[in-house]
Amino acid sequence: MMANNAESGAIAVSGLYAAYQRQPVLSNISVRFPKGQWTAIVGPNGAGKSTLFHVLTGSMKALRGEVTAFGEPIAKHRRAGRIAYMAQRDAIEWDFPISVWETVMTGRFGHIRHDAWWRRLLPLRFTHPRHARAVTEALDAVDMLAFSHRPIGALSGGQKKRVLLARALAQQADTLLLDEPLAGVDPPSEQLILAVLAKQRSAGRTVIMVTHDMPGARRFVDHVVLINRTIRGEGSPEEMLSDAKLAELAVGAPSES
Ligand SMILES: Nc1ncnc2c1ncn2[C@@H]1O[C@H](COP(=O)(O)OP(=O)(O)O)[C@@H](O)[C@H]1O
Ligand SMILES: [Mg+2]
Repeated sequence: MMANNAESGAIAVSGLYAAYQRQPVLSNISVRFPKGQWTAIVGPNGAGKSTLFHVLTGSMKALRGEVTAFGEPIAKHRRAGRIAYMAQRDAIEWDFPISVWETVMTGRFGHIRHDAWWRRLLPLRFTHPRHARAVTEALDAVDMLAFSHRPIGALSGGQKKRVLLARALAQQADTLLLDEPLAGVDPPSEQLILAVLAKQRSAGRTVIMVTHDMPGARRFVDHVVLINRTIRGEGSPEEMLSDAKLAELAVGAPSES
């Protein structure tokens, strides 16, 4: 193997700096998220975890540094629809009278864009059947198929997260970026979401999630990245999630930021 093939086996960030206006947030971040593995990003509130995702998804421009996905510039990977993202604070208007099924279908818009022009002129229900299949499969995976026709406003917090996860799954991307997918959900939904992600990982997908759930991370993930404005550690869950390491990182009581 050639030396730079190490980069083709991962999402690789190197020498990354990011700031809001003049306030620096990420400083000299160099880190790898191995392909086909499940990585947990752990750090205190305000550590820059969501900001790192904003850079990976292209919604924020880095001041400096480089991000590659499996050996290519990440932008190329994104344009090909190979990265699905679930934001920490979703941009969904939960009072809007739209069904669970339609909400998950919005996850397909990136793909529908590439369909024949005449298909794109038709109402949603006439899109290519593969989009409907992807939506059905995703809703089934999070055990929400029975809720397909419910208005999204009628869902509990845990059910909303499951629908948002289904929307990410419906993209059938090979990389999943999930910002606190377990925050604020009931214990059964939490167990279900962890099981869904374990299955995605077994299917060969690269899963990267921000979490404050230490027991869940210890039990399930392959790899842990500790962050507080800069990378504070990278390695196995046993090593990175020890009490000593976490105290050092200043992870206090888990809370949503
Ligand atoms: N849109 C923004 N404008 C200015 N500052 C921001 C903005 N978003 C986040 N920040 C600041 O950047 C820092 C990192 O935020 P964030 O990436 O959301 O942290 P985390 O997700 O780890 O809790 C925090 O100090 C936060 O207040
Ligand atoms: Mg955050």
